[in-house]
Amino acid sequence: MAREQWKSQFGFLLAAVGSAIGLGNIWRFSYLAYEHGGGAFLIPYLVALLTAGIPLLILEYGIGHERIGSAPLAYAKIDKRWEWLGWWAVLFVMFGIVLYYSVVIAWCMNFFLLSFDLGWGNDPNAFFFKEFLQVSDRPGDIGEVRTPILAALALVWLINWAVVYRGVQRGIELANKILMPTLLVLIIALVGWSLTLDGAALGLKAYLEPDFSHLSDPKVWIDAYSQIFFTLSLGFGIMIAYASYLPRKADITRNALLTALINSGFSLFAGLAVFSVLGFMATSQNQPMSEVVAQSIGLAFVAYPKAVSLMPGGNLFGALFFLCLVVAGISSAVSIIEAFVAAMVDKFGISRQKLVTFISVLGFTGSIVFTTHAGLLWLDIVDHFVTHYGLVSVGIMECFVVGWLFRLPKLRQHINRISSIPLGAWWDFLIKVFVPLVLLIILAGDLYAEFQ
Ligand code: PHE
Ligand code: NA
Repeated sequence: MAREQWKSQFGFLLAAVGSAIGLGNIWRFSYLAYEHGGGAFLIPYLVALLTAGIPLLILEYGIGHERIGSAPLAYAKIDKRWEWLGWWAVLFVMFGIVLYYSVVIAWCMNFFLLSFDLGWGNDPNAFFFKEFLQVSDRPGDIGEVRTPILAALALVWLINWAVVYRGVQRGIELANKILMPTLLVLIIALVGWSLTLDGAALGLKAYLEPDFSHLSDPKVWIDAYSQIFFTLSLGFGIMIAYASYLPRKADITRNALLTALINSGFSLFAGLAVFSVLGFMATSQNQPMSEVVAQSIGLAFVAYPKAVSLMPGGNLFGALFFLCLVVAGISSAVSIIEAFVAAMVDKFGISRQKLVTFISVLGFTGSIVFTTHAGLLWLDIVDHFVTHYGLVSVGIMECFVVGWLFRLPKLRQHINRISSIPLGAWWDFLIKVFVPLVLLIILAGDLYAEFQ
């Protein structure tokens, strides 16, 4: 059977952007920026984008397109001995990321519903951790399964299943043609509304005012590079699979640049909403900003609900916010599943439909671990290792395989023949030497920090 293709390059771009824009753009990016020097964080972020993110995105689009295969097949077509790297990437993301990612989307669905009657009460912190998640810090503490979370989780997996089941054009492309415009409308409404709130300026100041003293902290740079990998869905074999469905004539470099620009633009823009709301909360409660910013997960599920409760018309605002997260999340979750499905179909020639049904059931079952009392604990551990070590190590090996075992100039010629923005020999240098070197330093620094 002929390989499926995107109906149009624009459809591909929407799907790639759908994968890139996810939960990470909304909460991960803003708290990183806040934690690491506000506007000053943009410097390491942009450096990481230019020196690793975009060159690697071009590489992933390039080999997916040139070799016409998902990650394992594309690597195998370069060098049989490296097929395992592709399997490692897609298995990792399938069983490392999508299981917990789906659970966070399920929480967002719950909070979407809770928004309407401010169902988190007047202590969102206690609500989220004690009542909603019933968090325990004992890893073996399963407790009883949380029914509302489980129901939403089933819905998430049902959607994942339905989209990937229908294949590239009628499933993923179509879903993104609906989800991405929806997301755009939602985020514009959200940002517009949040900027009118009292105290928005205070929040924006915390978000954007640069504090350059952070730039000498290696951790800030490590976090910037990990964030770029995560945010562009790099190192998972996703972008390789998506590019393998492009028609033979496709503008690789332009699509890579657009994906990167839209994704980072979205992060920056969404940050305006997140921080205006925090500024509003600080103002209305007469607190310093540093007290209202709860870190990581708390930002979305504790600080935001608090603010929503204080806002006139807050329930609608909360619903918009959580719907935004759900939409952004689903389009990323399906891309993860597709990376794995494409790999299995390429390798074993099995039916997509049967496979998708099987792994959706498996995925749903596996996700349940993260809905238990110890779920949050597991989530933190898995997220930490995947984003800090998994992605970066795949990135290094990717550069090695494609840069050294493959005639890189040949790949560059292939890309240049069909692309509107030509790549120079500098790109070879980045992939062969510079990117892997930087990533090695990041990895070493990260390991060092771990054991300190
Ligand atoms: N890029 C997505 C985000 O920023 C996360 C993601 C990771 C999506 C891995 C797919 C695969 O949230
Ligand atoms: Na992203």
